[in-house]
Amino acid sequence: DVTLSPEPSLTFRTIGGILDFYVFLGPTPENVIQQYTEAIGRPHLPPYWSLGYQLSRWGYPSIDVVKQTVNRMEQYGIPHDVQYADIDYMENKLDFTYDKDNYAGLPEYIQELKKDGLHYIIILDPFLSKDQSRGTYQPYELGQHFGLWVNNSDGVTAAVGKALPPGESVYPDFLNPRTADWWTYMCAKFHGVLPYDGIWIDMNEPSNFLNGQYPACAHNNLNYPPYIPRISDSSLFHSTLCPDSSTYLGKHYDTHSLFGWAEAPPTFRAVQEATGKRPFVLSRSTFVGNGKYAAHWLGDNHALWEDMHLSIIGILEFNLFGIPQVGADICGFYFDTSFELCLRWTQLGAFYPLARNHNALGQKEQDPGVFGIEFATIARTVLQIRYSLLPYLYTLFFEAHAFGNTVARGLMHEFTDDPETHGIDTAFLWGSALMIAPVLQEGARSVDVYFPDATWFDYYTGDKVPASSHNKYISVHAPLEKIPLFIRGGYILPTQTPATRTAKSRLNPFGLIVALDEKGEASGSLFWDDGESVGDGTTRGPFTLHSYSPMIPL
Ligand SMILES: *[C@@H]1O[C@H](CO)[C@@H](O)[C@H](O)[C@H]1NC(C)=O
Repeated sequence: DVTLSPEPSLTFRTIGGILDFYVFLGPTPENVIQQYTEAIGRPHLPPYWSLGYQLSRWGYPSIDVVKQTVNRMEQYGIPHDVQYADIDYMENKLDFTYDKDNYAGLPEYIQELKKDGLHYIIILDPFLSKDQSRGTYQPYELGQHFGLWVNNSDGVTAAVGKALPPGESVYPDFLNPRTADWWTYMCAKFHGVLPYDGIWIDMNEPSNFLNGQYPACAHNNLNYPPYIPRISDSSLFHSTLCPDSSTYLGKHYDTHSLFGWAEAPPTFRAVQEATGKRPFVLSRSTFVGNGKYAAHWLGDNHALWEDMHLSIIGILEFNLFGIPQVGADICGFYFDTSFELCLRWTQLGAFYPLARNHNALGQKEQDPGVFGIEFATIARTVLQIRYSLLPYLYTLFFEAHAFGNTVARGLMHEFTDDPETHGIDTAFLWGSALMIAPVLQEGARSVDVYFPDATWFDYYTGDKVPASSHNKYISVHAPLEKIPLFIRGGYILPTQTPATRTAKSRLNPFGLIVALDEKGEASGSLFWDDGESVGDGTTRGPFTLHSYSPMIPL
């Protein structure tokens, strides 16, 4: 448990283990993140296409419904780069299978999407059914043969829980290097069946529908420690494995938070091996250092206005954690969304570093094409703004990768001396130069925007925000079709004419938004490469890095 007090002070209450403390001195908040990510590993450079719009849901009952959804996007010309497959595509929710009835023709359909410039991401869960007929489920049998599972406290029998697949399930011990090799092998081999572009790893806390594995967690100091932090059900094994389970690096008690952490690198490796391109992995459970291998979404939220607001906090936090490619489920996961909430969320989500609409089983459809022409037109417009700014966003991701900068940034990072900015969680920046001030309330047609002391221009009109509005909250008009956006003077942002796929927009003419400050100066940069080649630093394929500044002093 970590408690903050206004002293300022921090109190750590721990159930054990060794805590190493590193202190990063900054002096600025942005410097702290640069230093922290230098220590833990800088985030990887994502493939360019993964910055496009991503569409997902749990509960596409058949491949025909996926096709209808993709066609709606196409029909309205809404930018769309990634289509996801949640567990619906699997046969009986078994990893490394697909449903040959409801998803008949899926491999061919994926090829078709690829030809059209789309990318396809499949989900994998970290539990393997142990109850398939003998000789029919190779992923389990191989793992069983090599002893790759998390074990019970005896260290020799597999921990058996209950999860999505039929029967009972075992859990790969990703901390074991042999398990990691088996996983990489299985994922890469499955690419021969479904030619995916990225992998989404879910339920990797690890999640279990039982509290602890069979038969029950024993009464001992690990499963029932003298102090329990404030967690769900006040239990360390609530919906997961018993803390006294054995993993390669020690008891689950000590390694619980490393389960998802350890799953990301072999998945990353598998995608790279299978596709030969820059990998994309999306993970629900992440831990310190995972930004090198994975993007993150904020988990199962609800279609509530409050959850939309909270998502801004989550996104800013994960940028502090060194996992800048982060987003929340646009329009909300649980509960039915509404026209207005989903519209406002689509506008905000267009500025998540990871822009993904995702929905739960049983909820009504919420892709941007399903609400009709008014919604589709507004969604298209705001996603076209995202796509036109992708060269700027990609450059920010390059700077995160190379220098450890944040991508989505709290106002506090740029205006640290202004205490008013420290508490702002209703607006945020892309880098230093673009302020996003979304509508977060039902029925609202204006937003109170705080303008720290700088030159600001309305993104839509180019009008300068009057200096008399600085250091104040100003009510900004925000009709249903508009999310308030402001460009900061002193910056140059590279842009590109948008298209419905990044594969196409990347071929379009570039532009520059030049916003001068009071001295008539501005600067900016562009990182550009093929957006998909593999490697680190200078071993990656050719790239260019441009710096911009006006040639004629004004
Ligand atoms: C788990 O049990 C298997 C089979 O007995 C064994 O090969 C493996 O080393 C064990 N792993 C751990 C982490 O206990």
